[in-house]
Amino acid sequence: MNYILRFFALTAFAGLAACSTPASFVDEALETCTTKVVRTQARLGTDYQQSPRNIAPGDSLWHQTAVCQENWTMGFWPGILWYAYEASGNETLLAPARGYTEALRFIAGQPAYDHDIGFIMFPSFGNGYRLTQDPSYKEAVLATAGRLAELFNPAVGTILSWPREVPNFGGHNTIMDNMLNLETLLWAAENGGDPAWREIAIMHADTTLRYNFRPDGTSYHVAVYDPETGAHKYSCTHQGYADDSLWARGQAWGIYGFTMVYRFTREPRFLAFAQRIADVYLSKLPEDKVPYWDFCDPAIPDAPRDASAAAVVASALLELSTYTDGKYRADAEAMLRSLWENYRAPENVEAFLLHSTGHHPAGSEIDYSIVYADYYFLEALLRLKNLR
Ligand code: GLY
Repeated sequence: MNYILRFFALTAFAGLAACSTPASFVDEALETCTTKVVRTQARLGTDYQQSPRNIAPGDSLWHQTAVCQENWTMGFWPGILWYAYEASGNETLLAPARGYTEALRFIAGQPAYDHDIGFIMFPSFGNGYRLTQDPSYKEAVLATAGRLAELFNPAVGTILSWPREVPNFGGHNTIMDNMLNLETLLWAAENGGDPAWREIAIMHADTTLRYNFRPDGTSYHVAVYDPETGAHKYSCTHQGYADDSLWARGQAWGIYGFTMVYRFTREPRFLAFAQRIADVYLSKLPEDKVPYWDFCDPAIPDAPRDASAAAVVASALLELSTYTDGKYRADAEAMLRSLWENYRAPENVEAFLLHSTGHHPAGSEIDYSIVYADYYFLEALLRLKNLR
């Protein structure tokens, strides 16, 4: 399905499903979030070479990081600006949305540093194209898909997620997060790009389904392969508690990724798998629907949460609900309501949400506000609004 039609498709479904009204917190949350974005952007000014990344507990202003190929989160602030513009119609957001987006164009013109180029370019240029039809944005997405495809290893059947980590892992590595970047390939293949990109995405999804998951539907963060023969060597973690644990955001990327791959392919095995791994995730959640950063951390209930995983899953389940006669919608709404009621940042804090965990084993961004949590939260609110 064409990406431009995405929200229209969701809206059309809402007409069929008729009638459950999303809770009133959606309007309140959208208004509060977009007001925060306008205020924050006024403070940030026009230095589009610095991008909001995180806010430490107790701080109130975004800590910014420089635009450079290693900065995987730099697409999310422009993505937030595009969504906030979509939600509010506030045209003052257009110039910074364009400015931050343009600052990332260099990514499309150089070999991929890693798989994250999809995370960088789709929230920015993809949303920009969806909302403005600017042909230069489409060109950037298509060029990015070509760069991503250069990381594909046909012997393995996946994209190499982290070229720099090949020596550390002892082979071609593919991480669960990489599922999100298939959206760039699939959209580009449907919008004038190389049809082979669709086949690459499907092979990647099938291989991930096989080697990044255990028989019980829980995920490994990383799968490692022999780059010559394609043989699977082992699976392990990088950002989770242990090789045999369940890193919450890893499972979240999987739920979002397989749902999105079904959107483009309509292959029933991807829909069935998205439901299977969503059901496993749901069965393990604490009462407030926001996961601990890793479901197996022995410090639970004193372990940190990960609001970003909840936001990613809420957005994914809203899409999944449109393929399953509304199943998962109540869960998604409950997650969003809980994020809004229990994890909302105070008015003076620029982020929408508190309590995300970035890279716990590295001691990085534990219990922070993080920009991708806000991005997927805003996306989910818009999806829910469009399901009315
Ligand atoms: N994609 C990196 C992360 O989820 O932390």
